[in-house]
Amino acid sequence: MHCAMRAFILLLSLALCCRADDVVERIIAHAAAHPAGDAPVSFERAVFDKDTRHLPIGVFDSGIGGLTVLEALLTLDAFHNDSLQPGADGVPDFARERFIYFGDQANMPYGNYSAAGRTDYLRELILKDAVFLLGSRWHDGKAARPGKPPVKAIVIACNTATAYGLEDIRAAVKAWGLPVIVIGVVEAGARGVLETGGKTGAVGVLATVGTCASGAYPRLIGGTLGLAGRDVPAITQHGSAALAGVIEGDPGFTQSVAECAAQEARALLETLRQEAPGQRLGTLVLGCTHYPLARGELDAAFTTLRADPRFSPLLEDTLAYVDPAEWTARELFRELAKAGLRLKAGETCDAGAHSFSLSVPNPACSGVKLAEDGSLDRDYKYTRLPGDLMREDTLNTPLKAAALPAVGRNLVEKRLPEVWRALGGGQ
Ligand code: DGL
Repeated sequence: MHCAMRAFILLLSLALCCRADDVVERIIAHAAAHPAGDAPVSFERAVFDKDTRHLPIGVFDSGIGGLTVLEALLTLDAFHNDSLQPGADGVPDFARERFIYFGDQANMPYGNYSAAGRTDYLRELILKDAVFLLGSRWHDGKAARPGKPPVKAIVIACNTATAYGLEDIRAAVKAWGLPVIVIGVVEAGARGVLETGGKTGAVGVLATVGTCASGAYPRLIGGTLGLAGRDVPAITQHGSAALAGVIEGDPGFTQSVAECAAQEARALLETLRQEAPGQRLGTLVLGCTHYPLARGELDAAFTTLRADPRFSPLLEDTLAYVDPAEWTARELFRELAKAGLRLKAGETCDAGAHSFSLSVPNPACSGVKLAEDGSLDRDYKYTRLPGDLMREDTLNTPLKAAALPAVGRNLVEKRLPEVWRALGGGQ
């Protein structure tokens, strides 16, 4: 390659790299400049100088898909609560804790920002989600108010947000000097592959287009297996632009879950055939919040493909499924225990109950463009630039079961009983 061209590429990548870092630096400086937590994208710094054990745990996702992770958090019983030893004791592991859930519904799907060339804006959105959980500022639809409890730990329930934002959030938390634990579903999923993945065969990752584009799963699975002294198998990914929406019942999609699952299962195997000839799929990572809800349909699809001579050489006799949600819950338990942040017997959380918030478009924000149904206009959504942290084109408002978007309500009521109960469903 010509010398001048090489120098140009080097300068360009340095410029891109600096611009990317600006996203984190800007939010770190902005929140530090508003230590009372009364401005958008800020939190009350002094809260974290006291004991934080009595604070709730924050969980966020791009929308309501992360409620599958919350269901895993509410139901996990993999440890003895008092001795902290592994094994079920009949009491949910987080029974004493309270959770604050936030879904950035107005700005989703996160999985499509990378294809639109707006990864920088996505990273800013993800950092803002974390700051919302750390802070006390929320919106009642008319005005911003104080009073939301801050959190002692942040669980990134979204695979795409973990892939693009985990390191940024950890860097910001460190820069602010906060004793806050940050857990992401992708790291936890990689640990799940180590502990329960198939003994033979390739690993397949089914996720959003954005998660796959980030390469986070292959990197973390490879690193986790390698550190444990295990051989790293072939790892194949397939990004679906449709499956999450179909599972949620988004009217923009006409396929059934079974049809879409069959299409994506086949596409994953075709990719495996091209990328790793001669390999058979032995482990499937359900690398998107919604996919555990379609596990039955995916399993049926792989069973059908196993009976098809064109696909049977690509599949092991049994497929081990890894659901990162369950591994995230285990990781959180371990990290809280290690940091001495679990509530002990007799202690209670400052937040009396679990609580839920969703973002909604803010029609009063100047320049905002809305679609006919009141959601953010698609072009507007995917062409925004990072940098204006005082601008609030979406607002984080409380969510009750009755106000759940119709597409997700059925899913939560039927498939996530503990979350439905915590949301006050049926009352
Ligand atoms: N929650 C996202 C994930 O787990 C899926 C939906 C989206 O693209 O926002 O990757």
